[in-house]
Amino acid sequence: MSSNELRKKFLKFFESKGHAVVPSSSLLPDDPSVLLTTAGMQQFKKYYTGEADPVKDFGSKNTTSIQKSFRTSDIDEVGDERHLTFFEMLGNFSFGGYFKSEAILYGKEFLDSIGLEIGYVTVFAGDKNIPFDEESFKIWEEAGARDIRRLGREDNFWGPTGGEGPCGPTTEIYINGIEVWNIVFNEYFQKADGTLGKLKTPGVDTGMGLERLAMVSQKKENIFETDLFEPILDILPGTLSERQRRIISDHLRASAFLLSDGVEPSNKEAGYVLRRLLRRSFVYEHINVLSPQIFESIMLEIIKNYENFYRDLKERRDGIIDSYWKEREKFSKTLAKGIRELEKSENIDGKKAFRIYETFGLPYEIIKEFSGAKSNALTRGGFEEEFKKHQEKSRAGAEGKFGGHGLILNTGELKAKDEHELSKVTRLHTATHLLQAALRKVLGEDVRQMGSDITAERTRFDFSFPRKLTHEEIKKVENLVNGAVAGKLEVKMEEMDIESAKKSGALYFFKEKYPSRVKVYSVGSPAGEFSKELCGGPHVKNTEEIGKFVIVKEEASASGVRRIRGKIIP
Ligand code: SER
Repeated sequence: MSSNELRKKFLKFFESKGHAVVPSSSLLPDDPSVLLTTAGMQQFKKYYTGEADPVKDFGSKNTTSIQKSFRTSDIDEVGDERHLTFFEMLGNFSFGGYFKSEAILYGKEFLDSIGLEIGYVTVFAGDKNIPFDEESFKIWEEAGARDIRRLGREDNFWGPTGGEGPCGPTTEIYINGIEVWNIVFNEYFQKADGTLGKLKTPGVDTGMGLERLAMVSQKKENIFETDLFEPILDILPGTLSERQRRIISDHLRASAFLLSDGVEPSNKEAGYVLRRLLRRSFVYEHINVLSPQIFESIMLEIIKNYENFYRDLKERRDGIIDSYWKEREKFSKTLAKGIRELEKSENIDGKKAFRIYETFGLPYEIIKEFSGAKSNALTRGGFEEEFKKHQEKSRAGAEGKFGGHGLILNTGELKAKDEHELSKVTRLHTATHLLQAALRKVLGEDVRQMGSDITAERTRFDFSFPRKLTHEEIKKVENLVNGAVAGKLEVKMEEMDIESAKKSGALYFFKEKYPSRVKVYSVGSPAGEFSKELCGGPHVKNTEEIGKFVIVKEEASASGVRRIRGKIIP
């Protein structure tokens, strides 16, 4: 059965069982505990915890989706027969609608309906805190399962690895020795400190990788032989090693999807993940002396194969290809030099590797792979450590201590090359705080910062919001910002520890890692604060310094995320 048919059949099956079909959410999650979306349940967290009502939002307590997912933890494994960074996860979910019996029987019925026979299943064996999942064991027994294995917490308990979230015992379905379906019974809630509490309403969260399902359904030896990868691999010359072919096809596919969700290559967060995927591919392209058109054809093939299901790929096609070439262009200036540097270098440790990354842009994976025994002392941890030190240094840049790269200011968010630009980005920076506050006043408190980037010419602000803004809303936002400018409001900074800062109601950008002492910038008198945010600065002293602010563009950045560009007119 083709992957397309599998997708359709899955959604149809669960729709026929009363599930609302919900579109995939963005790879950039609206969830502070994860960098990228790693599972279908993420967009539904608040329905498990009872913070939101599924009947009000979906018309049902049960939903189904095919979720774009990404696991950075598997990046080093890609190249073998079954690991991927990006994958599609088929899932059915229930928030107090049904529980173990239905979930297991639906799973079996669906696999039967597409002609797949279950090999064996596993259930949670129990440990000192949580009992054996006898109920699931019995349900499987009655359903005719012949091989039911009991496994411990490592295998049959699902929950967030870090941070908070729903969790519970799982039952897993194996076909031909491969785990295809993970059915999680969310009974508990894991707190940030790792302790478990009972959830008021138990829920069901299932996840089945489309790639693995396609592999068993299409009777292939590995995921790369399925129709999801064949057309991509067909474009790559057979002279490349199998491992390289797999890495390239995984990485370019993942890159196309990240770009379609508005991620751009950078040295931070999701942008940094994307940069590594692309650059590793470019190194393989370079050393195999491939024609530059080959990868572009692959990107186009990926978009073509997926665009009917993922409309963002279609709508952002030109932007995706454009960003792809830009990153290639940027890297091509230093790639060959970087490889030469790698060849000349002895003893590559974390410090040295980071220097090579910083100077030549070679990603960690490539440095490790190409330096052989010379980098025995190099670990990902050591490299990341250096990276962190560097980021702290560039944060200090916000106070003007940063000298490198010809910029006098580079906080990641703000960039200025001289005093003149510094004054402009400072004004735009305060304007951006006013913009966020105004957006929340007009559109509601669900609006949250998803990213921002400020140059001397403009501010670019991304925020969570589900739809296009109306002309009236844009006008209102603009008027509120300019009202604050006209009001000549004072901008004040106060230093405090992070907890007090968050408690004070100051907004913060959840993707940023804040130090334990932070600065809080507020605009306006304490009685009538217009805006209050955790921020490294710099800002103007009084809003009158800003001048007239205009919104020049409002557009989609990713699903659920809007992007505004604004500037100051003289
Ligand atoms: N959340 C579980 C997983 O990721 C099931 O969807 O495997």
